[in-house]
Amino acid sequence: MPSVPGVIRLIDPADDRDMRAVFDVGIAAKTFDLPWFSPINFSSWLIQMRTPDPEDAQELYAYFDADGTCLGTNLLFIPLEDNTDKVYSLVDVAPEHRRKGVGSALVEHGLARARALGRTKVFAETLVPGAFDEQHGFVRFARSSGFSQGWDDIARHLALPVPQERLSRLAQSAAVRYVGDYRIETFAGRVPEVHLPGLAELMRLLAVDSPSGDIDFDAEAVSPDRLRRMYDREEEQGRIHLSALAVHDESGAVVAQSDLTMEPPIDFAVQLGTYVHREHRGHRLGMAVKVANLQQLQRDHPGPAFVRTMNAETNVHMVSVNVDLGFEIVETSTEWVMDPTTR
Ligand SMILES: CC(C)(COP(=O)(O)OP(=O)(O)OC[C@H]1O[C@@H](n2cnc3c(N)ncnc32)[C@H](O)[C@@H]1OP(=O)(O)O)[C@@H](O)C(=O)NCCC(=O)NCCS
Repeated sequence: MPSVPGVIRLIDPADDRDMRAVFDVGIAAKTFDLPWFSPINFSSWLIQMRTPDPEDAQELYAYFDADGTCLGTNLLFIPLEDNTDKVYSLVDVAPEHRRKGVGSALVEHGLARARALGRTKVFAETLVPGAFDEQHGFVRFARSSGFSQGWDDIARHLALPVPQERLSRLAQSAAVRYVGDYRIETFAGRVPEVHLPGLAELMRLLAVDSPSGDIDFDAEAVSPDRLRRMYDREEEQGRIHLSALAVHDESGAVVAQSDLTMEPPIDFAVQLGTYVHREHRGHRLGMAVKVANLQQLQRDHPGPAFVRTMNAETNVHMVSVNVDLGFEIVETSTEWVMDPTTR
């Protein structure tokens, strides 16, 4: 029981007042804990939260005290088409209201919701500076809530601009391994229709092939239509999305992809997935698409101070590409997992 009396309510995304309160708690929690964090813009977040995704439901819960002040939030992601044994729970508590039991109440409430949905795995995430630290408050919270450590992802940042000489050298050393069989194409915004089926297939497989400890993930239900809806939403949000693809010359198939996005205000860029199809590995295509996208970023968007990326440390090939590019470790993100039916 929290030491501050209150209630947990499901938030209606159409309710401007509640959405503002929830947004402010999330921003306060992240600004307090993450030195690099730059708040996203409220209108863009509203678009994100108000655009239903038929493949992935979201339920937003918040803890309000007796005065109606929002003290903490829990955003649940509920996959509907794939990975239907899982729920993802993101809990944030306002810095001035921590250690009052609010986080625990939100976690318990999320576990009950997962049980009601018949799910057997609930995931949570902690982000701590530097290496994994058993003593860190968030890690202690995850353990005291009953989660087990799933796997660690390492967050790295790359200061921009990367010296052109380094990018050219890495691009050339990759090119000798693929030119003649593959070509690299870059795009800002929508990827052309002709490439969407191939790109969707790569993104489907990314979740299966990314290291995730002992936990299995189904291929994600990514379709050309889902990508089109993502581009529509990003255009509405004013988000910049840069893609680099490797195309197999002989078949015309898309065999590798890498994505960067930036959210106004453009303080930093986020590296989304980079993926090379299993049958086309060993040609330095991972490096090639990443470098091509960074060159596109630096040519057309001089604003961001760094690129942020997150990988499992066991993903040795991707980590070595990142180290060659100059990425440096900033944080460890741990994925925690629990079976809610055992509680
Ligand atoms: C982690 C977080 C959600 C905890 O919220 P909270 O409301 O302060 O958590 P609770 O008060 O319910 O804490 C429950 C127990 O977790 C442990 N704990 C929580 N914060 C801790 C800290 N800073 N240091 C040590 N132990 C801590 C304690 O055992 C605590 O019980 P106690 O206060 O009786 O000793 C909050 O700090 C937060 O928003 N962090 C940023 C987001 C995040 O990491 N979320 C992921 C959660 S898995």
